[in-house]
Amino acid sequence: MLRLLLPVAGLATVLRAANISQRTFGIDYGCNCFVKDGRPFRYISGSIHYSRIPRYYWKDRLLKMKMAGLDAIQTYVPWNYHEPQMGVYDFSGDRDLEYFLQLADETGLLVILRAGPYICAEWDMGGLPAWLLEKESIVLRSSDSDYLAAVEKWMSVLLPKMKPHLYQNGGPIIMVQVENEYGSYFACDYDYLRSLQKLFRQHLGDEVVLFTTDGASQLYLRCGALQGFYATVDFAPGGNVTAAFLAQRSSEPTGPLVNSEFYTGWLDHWGHRHSVVPAQTIAKTLNEILACGANVNLYMFIGGTNFAYWNGANMPYMPQPTSYDYDAPLSEAGDLTEKYFALREVIGMYNQLPEGLIPPTTSKFAYGKVHLQKVGTVVEFLDRLSPAGPVKSTFPLTFVQLKQYFGFVLYRTKLPKNCTEPTQLSSPLNGVHDRAYVSVDGVLQGILERDKSLMINITGKAGANMDILVENMGRVNYGRYNNDFKGLVSNLTLDQDILVEWEIYPLDIDGAVNHSIHGYPDRPKRSVGNPVSYETPTFYTGTLLIPGGIPDLPQDTYVNFPGWTKESPAEGASFPHVATLQRHKETARPGGFPATGDL
Ligand SMILES: *[C@@H]1O[C@H](CO)[C@@H](O)[C@H](O)[C@H]1NC(C)=O
Ligand SMILES: *[C@@H]1O[C@H](CO)[C@@H](O)[C@H](O)[C@H]1NC(C)=O
Ligand SMILES: *[C@@H]1O[C@H](CO)[C@@H](O)[C@H](O)[C@H]1NC(C)=O
Ligand SMILES: *[C@@H]1O[C@H](CO)[C@@H](O)[C@H](O)[C@H]1NC(C)=O
Ligand SMILES: *[C@@H]1O[C@H](CO)[C@@H](O)[C@H](O)[C@H]1NC(C)=O
Ligand SMILES: *[C@@H]1O[C@H](CO)[C@@H](O)[C@H](O)[C@H]1NC(C)=O
Repeated sequence: MLRLLLPVAGLATVLRAANISQRTFGIDYGCNCFVKDGRPFRYISGSIHYSRIPRYYWKDRLLKMKMAGLDAIQTYVPWNYHEPQMGVYDFSGDRDLEYFLQLADETGLLVILRAGPYICAEWDMGGLPAWLLEKESIVLRSSDSDYLAAVEKWMSVLLPKMKPHLYQNGGPIIMVQVENEYGSYFACDYDYLRSLQKLFRQHLGDEVVLFTTDGASQLYLRCGALQGFYATVDFAPGGNVTAAFLAQRSSEPTGPLVNSEFYTGWLDHWGHRHSVVPAQTIAKTLNEILACGANVNLYMFIGGTNFAYWNGANMPYMPQPTSYDYDAPLSEAGDLTEKYFALREVIGMYNQLPEGLIPPTTSKFAYGKVHLQKVGTVVEFLDRLSPAGPVKSTFPLTFVQLKQYFGFVLYRTKLPKNCTEPTQLSSPLNGVHDRAYVSVDGVLQGILERDKSLMINITGKAGANMDILVENMGRVNYGRYNNDFKGLVSNLTLDQDILVEWEIYPLDIDGAVNHSIHGYPDRPKRSVGNPVSYETPTFYTGTLLIPGGIPDLPQDTYVNFPGWTKESPAEGASFPHVATLQRHKETARPGGFPATGDL
């Protein structure tokens, strides 16, 4: 069998190699257009981030994009998603970028790859790994030698994987973006861009089109564009398309017009309303862009979800929520919207829409209420959450110093004096990054929060345990505050005195939820004097049953938390509760923190 098959496989390789030689993609400055396989080519593309969609659904979402008439997709590669610890790489499961590229290719979509190293993307630290901050003084996105060394090492892993997927090598990738909106960053370091150019050329060769993306203004293009990279711009609907492309012309007097991020909606921030942009506004500007022969990428075509701890934040500190719905043409759940059909109609005026059925919206199932039982407080589970025990330090340490990059860390110290009257606990240098739940001997005192609440009053006896549970709500993804250290990044004071002698517990919440939080706490509930307060952060557990006898279950669902909040400290000191659901069958909709309520 094997011997018979081998020559056939060999023949296929020869034919494919012969066809590859006809595959070309480049820029024609004479016709102000791209040329693909020797013919003028214009793309209509849509953004989809594989890191924000479960692998299970990649194919469905790509097919819906194809059926909207798109030629291409655009995706970011988040460095920190693939190199979670220095030198530890992960390209498996939901991180299997090469499989994603293969699916796009099979669906008939070209790929515009935004390879970073920095991506912004409303993603934790703009895609840069937090471990870069182990050098405290590092200047990110510059010629800083430690930063560049880490970039070179990462790109020597990523880019060789990408090379076989380039269009001229038989794959779907037609262009590769370097950095992102670099002209909006303070450093304006051309040597950095030159180093990246050298690195990308070294790994990908001279043929591939390398490009940059910046805001549509000479102000941004000044530091974002570099000879050897094709300069493209990004701009929103509703503005003056001619003026925006004139800005691109200031850097590229000839060549194709490209809007690399044409916004179909907008991002959200915690505590703010969901952003909504009407479909008609987008359809009208899209038509104007396409009418002038320009190339466009719709950002986002599907936003998806910030799973786990991957959301970023803006300054003054405003984290993004779990949802990255973006009011995009395909909803966070991948559903077809009115906007999808409105934009498809515009695209259909310029591209032939593919024949066939648009995959239908996935069915959803209402599983009903899930009752949650209190299991125990974070403090009661401390031994299991922090098996190695506390790190002792005179002054507080940051997450990076503890080598814990995400989630929660508990800082404990003993009250140095009797605080019979309300006594000021403060963070004079605004160093609680980002939100701290403060309790004294298990009794809730209040919340400290970055940029919002720098001081609270506490009471308690000398020697009582003061616990400060600090939550990392996502690293700043944009601008000069990218070096975003987490935890207690400066000293706390009680009255005017600096608090010292800390016991710091790094918490492995995910591991504990996986394994052991379902049982009973290690510690007996506190008895005399200190009744357990469930006002402090607490684990709950509940069981979601997938009913039998109904075909096609499990199906997707939505989680609702009636009456649950994450209020800003000013609005009141109500605590979020960390809940766990034991799943008998995996539902098709993984969430950030699974929790209570109607399903
Ligand atoms: C090569 O191209 C020819 C014509 O374009 C096509 O018929 C053939 O199937 C292709 N071969 C492979 C292996 O893709
Ligand atoms: C759009 O910008 C162009 C170029 O700056 C200008 O000539 C034109 O008047 C503008 N159109 C509108 C409607 O403002
Ligand atoms: C705190 O107050 C108690 C009485 O409530 C007293 O015994 C103790 O000495 C005081 N401790 C300090 C450090 O002042
Ligand atoms: C803290 O308590 C003092 C009185 O002891 C009071 O003046 C102040 O307003 C309180 N501050 C807060 C934030 O509650
Ligand atoms: C805390 O204060 C001490 C003493 O002033 C200082 O040496 C230390 O650097 C401070 N720590 C932080 C994290 O700010
Ligand atoms: C939790 O369990 C899942 C499935 O067994 C595993 O893939 C994941 O790595 C675990 N996470 C942690 C933090 O242990």
